Amino acid sequence: AKAPVRVLVTGAVGQIGYALVPMIARGAMLGPDQPVIIHMLDIEPAAEALNGVKMELIDAAFPLLKGVVATTDIVEACNGVNIAVMVGGFPRKEGMERKDVMSRNVSIYKAQASALEQYAAQDCKVLVVANPANTNALVLKEFAPSIPEKNITCLTRLDHNRALGQISERLNVHVSDVKNVIIWGNHSSTQYPDVNHATVSTSAGQKSVKELVGDDKWLKTEFITTIQQRGATIIKARKLSSALSAASSACDHIRDWVIGTPKGTWVSMGVSSDGSYGIPPGLMYSFPVTCEKGEWSIVQGLKIDEFSREKMDATAKELMEEKSLAYSCLN
Ligand code: NAI
Repeated sequence: AKAPVRVLVTGAVGQIGYALVPMIARGAMLGPDQPVIIHMLDIEPAAEALNGVKMELIDAAFPLLKGVVATTDIVEACNGVNIAVMVGGFPRKEGMERKDVMSRNVSIYKAQASALEQYAAQDCKVLVVANPANTNALVLKEFAPSIPEKNITCLTRLDHNRALGQISERLNVHVSDVKNVIIWGNHSSTQYPDVNHATVSTSAGQKSVKELVGDDKWLKTEFITTIQQRGATIIKARKLSSALSAASSACDHIRDWVIGTPKGTWVSMGVSSDGSYGIPPGLMYSFPVTCEKGEWSIVQGLKIDEFSREKMDATAKELMEEKSLAYSCLN
């Protein structure tokens, strides 16, 4: 039997955490034959609820679940973890300025960077979900210099999956037949969902999404804003932000990273830019990536038209601004 993998979920009591831990325990993240030990971290006021989630995990009698660590101590939480899914954070409350939210979160991510660096397993893979996701991941990367840069990522897979979903609805095809959409940039309303290279598997072979949709105006306007605004639309409908879709997408992100992407398929991940496509090096930016043997690489050589270039640069610019705001909060 395989040795168990230790998976940390921070903010485990929250909405996403509560949806995510049973998915991990069922094998949705690491596969149906990989035992797991789940580490859950939350803050002191949530300690009792955290213990409640632990009791439920025990009650569900998951065959793959070999242990549960539920703690409010960051050191205990990070100890020996192979995968860290960082969902914990401070939500934006009414009347709060962007800078206040940023300031609360970057100080959390600065502190947690040090704990991961010191106590997690050497090869630990990190996924930041909590917003501002790209900038929290950037802070984590800068304050955990001994963690390889390649091991720190942020979640834009939800946006990617939303784009697949909208195309599948529009074309009335199954979502698993649509592939190779791209989310460029920030997990925010400036993100650029790009379908220029996306395809659909049909009985007559692979067809381009652009061709099948046949309505360039829709793809350049409504489609893009629907994806950019989807988070807000869900909040309006549920009075709560996306949780099951975020949790499921976090599983997809880690699964593809660890197990690999299918041949001919790429996915979107927020990763540290190496300068590809003219994006400033070091910025945490969402790119199309393929994964093999536990490593991602940015898909190279895609043709970028003028429309795309402008949108890719606009979201990069926002990330530069977030970066300087984050640093001004830390100083
Ligand atoms: P939530 O407010 O229900 O849960 C957050 C949890 O984090 C709470 O239990 C809270 O006690 C905990 N927490 C706060 N500070 C902490 C700390 N220092 N250490 C550990 N835990 C801490 O929020 P929800 O809905 O679960 O969302 C979590 C985050 O994910 C939010 O920042 C949200 O904006 C973000 N998000 C990101 C998405 C993405 O695609 N990247 C999609 C949806 C949400």
